[in-house]
Amino acid sequence: MQINGNFLKIQKNYLFSDIAKKVAAYKAANPDADVIRLGIGDVTRPLAPAVIDAMHKAVDEMAREETFMGYPPEWGYDFLKRAINENDFAARGVKLADDEIFVSDGAKSDCGNIGDIFSADNTVAVCDPIYPVYVDTNIMGGRSGDLIDGRWSRFIYMPCTADNGFVPEKPKAHADLIYLCYPNNPTGASITREQLEGWVAFALENGSVILYDAAYEAYITTPGVPHSIYEIEGAKKCAIEFRSFSKTAGFTGTRCAYTIIPHDLKASDGTELNALWARRQATKFNGVSYITQRGAEATFSEEGKRQVRETIDFYHGNADIIYNGLKGLGYEVYGGVDSPYVWLKTPEGLSSWEFFDLLLNEVQVVGTPGAGFGPAGEGYFRLTAFGSRENTRRAVERIAKL
Ligand code: MLT
Repeated sequence: MQINGNFLKIQKNYLFSDIAKKVAAYKAANPDADVIRLGIGDVTRPLAPAVIDAMHKAVDEMAREETFMGYPPEWGYDFLKRAINENDFAARGVKLADDEIFVSDGAKSDCGNIGDIFSADNTVAVCDPIYPVYVDTNIMGGRSGDLIDGRWSRFIYMPCTADNGFVPEKPKAHADLIYLCYPNNPTGASITREQLEGWVAFALENGSVILYDAAYEAYITTPGVPHSIYEIEGAKKCAIEFRSFSKTAGFTGTRCAYTIIPHDLKASDGTELNALWARRQATKFNGVSYITQRGAEATFSEEGKRQVRETIDFYHGNADIIYNGLKGLGYEVYGGVDSPYVWLKTPEGLSSWEFFDLLLNEVQVVGTPGAGFGPAGEGYFRLTAFGSRENTRRAVERIAKL
């Protein structure tokens, strides 16, 4: 027996598992410590009442033989796909067919699994810093080459810095797959319509596929910022989009997301990617539970929309507290406006991990070291707005004491 040797290349722990381990070790050594966690982007507000009502109703349906549901359709129930289509796309002038929408258990799974339908020979362009799932899964899939001076030899790195507003330059070499995430994780930056048009034109010209992670779309507040890549003409021929109910409606623990693969999107030999993904999901995935999909559907009711919006506004309030608080303390800060993430420069002379240790040991605040998101993240740090109001305030007060 031989293993997939690519797993030996990859760093031992997933970034957020690594952080969780460090925090657990600190807690074990300091059991009374009151640790405030603003590290992993995990939500803390309960599900919206409209979602809970819909899920209760669905549980009751599961309790009766006449309304009991067995295996869900592997690509999602029609009622949810219709609601997604009408509310997230048609309402923004984007026309999609329901069978271009694939409901799943998470954008993380979809971003990670999408590599199944692409050749290991493809060249991958990644932003730097970047959500580690894109990098890790392409290492697992054999597209990384070797690690040389902290960079994978076959990846094209696209630095996202304060100088370019965290929107990268186009790659100079040919990239088959280009990962973009806007609003961005981890920098909290958003992309303008004009910039996204530039990326779509580039992908069409070069025969590249853009893997567009729009999991934080609901946090956009700046008018004119595109919510979906399909708002850009031509994108259906060159882009896959990942969306999630996790950050939008508090589903990190409930699990529901969806991926769009338009029929117009074809490989160089003319094969439709939609058909490949449909086949992949039918074989390897058994769908999202009926109860969960009814809950997700309820986020699109009038009540649900209003309740979900209140929660997003609440997290925006936290982002303001972090952004303005740290700015007032003299930190260089970014993000937080179209995003639940605030990205800050670590104090002079401190690496990302040194700052992580300092915050944990001295003031018991957990964040995410920028270096964990890629080499260009060194010297930066991420805080999330997903905590409680009180903890968010206390975290900023504690950082002020440093
Ligand atoms: C993050 O903290 O970057 C997110 O929680 C990651 C995720 O959604 O998987």
